[in-house]
Amino acid sequence: RRLLGTAGAVGAAGLVAGGAAGAYAAESVRSDPDPLSSVGSTTVPFHGERQAGITTPLQAHGHLIALDLAPGADRKAVAALLRRWSKTAEELTAGKVPADDTGIALDAGPASLTVTFGFGRTFFGRVGLKDRLPEELAPLPDFSADVLDPKRSNGDLWLQIGADDGLVAFHALRALQREAREVARVRWQMNGFNRTPGATSRPMTARNLMGQVDGTNNPKTTDDDFDQRIFVPAKGKPDWMAGGSYAVVRRIRMLLDSWDHLSLERQERVIGRRKSDGAPLSGGTETTPVDLTKVNADGSLAIAGDAHVRVAAPVSNQGAAMLRRPFSYHDGFREDGAPDAGLLFVAWQADPMKGFVPVQRKLDRGDGLSRFLRHEASALFAVPGGCAPGEYVGQALLE
Ligand code: HEM
Repeated sequence: RRLLGTAGAVGAAGLVAGGAAGAYAAESVRSDPDPLSSVGSTTVPFHGERQAGITTPLQAHGHLIALDLAPGADRKAVAALLRRWSKTAEELTAGKVPADDTGIALDAGPASLTVTFGFGRTFFGRVGLKDRLPEELAPLPDFSADVLDPKRSNGDLWLQIGADDGLVAFHALRALQREAREVARVRWQMNGFNRTPGATSRPMTARNLMGQVDGTNNPKTTDDDFDQRIFVPAKGKPDWMAGGSYAVVRRIRMLLDSWDHLSLERQERVIGRRKSDGAPLSGGTETTPVDLTKVNADGSLAIAGDAHVRVAAPVSNQGAAMLRRPFSYHDGFREDGAPDAGLLFVAWQADPMKGFVPVQRKLDRGDGLSRFLRHEASALFAVPGGCAPGEYVGQALLE
């Protein structure tokens, strides 16, 4: 359907512009060449018990956007917005062209597009739903090293858009932002990226902008306790959050000039893993469990006392764990010449008090990595479960 639509559009535009060229373009598209890869045609289902974009493999492009409700926007208006948004997300993620389309993503398939919707703490007061506010949305505590910009933090509504094509991701962003119309205005937006699928010769864990293999010891969907750690259970509280999760978003700038000055050996000590392949300094390969007790021949700990993987590990934090699903970002260079770059850290968990908060408290007291980081923005969102065809995300809260 997408190719036919595209062919029509190209042909029509070409004919208006001058006949033969247009006809030729239409022909060439219709000839349906074998696609170069499956990147464009890959779809991630929008409907389901859970929203897409949480356990979905990292996409190459991401937009995180928070919106604030416009004055006077009430619960009914928000319900109508979420209905519109869900319909559009359903169409776009299936590769359909929505009505009144901008044309930005014509020619491309859905490219693993996902759209994930969330609600911030301030939302509930604005629409008279304070009695449905989850305890888990309590404001995150202050951390001593935070240098947060309030204008780029929090927000009433949140969208996470991910796709393996930059035009497809922007197309979705623009369509959803246009649909918010008078109901909500963008409060902040951050753009991120990950490795492009197919860029490595085999599937590999992503790297961040410090060059580290990042994501190795994330909880796995096959773990017995994965669902329990990451998602609110079907009969969980509040009821409208069944199948949902809580997203902690932190914009973490990396002090790359200082970092890049460290020797490879010191960089590896800071994390506790080898830079080349992500293997723990206690030995083995990337997937070998980290041995925090291992001692080197000289009596020193193989994984240093302040190594990031030691301080952040569940065993150091009463079992606290979260699913880290970040995007890297680069917004040019600062006045001092340093890159304005780092990690749009997105952590998913069933309860932030059993995930992000205890771990960040510990990291904030000074793991080896914190010296090279600045937490510049912060937000927490309740991300409800997914919806079935004909329903919209957030319906159990808004109706
Ligand atoms: C592990 C980098 C921030 C929690 C790791 C690893 C790297 C890394 C390279 C080892 C590979 C892996 O298991 O994924 C970074 C960078 C950060 C950052 C560059 C900031 C820009 C954070 C924050 C938290 C966190 C803010 C939570 C508050 C964890 C956890 C692990 C981990 C839980 C797994 C530890 C284990 O069980 O082995 N991180 N991290 N990280 N990080 Fe971070």
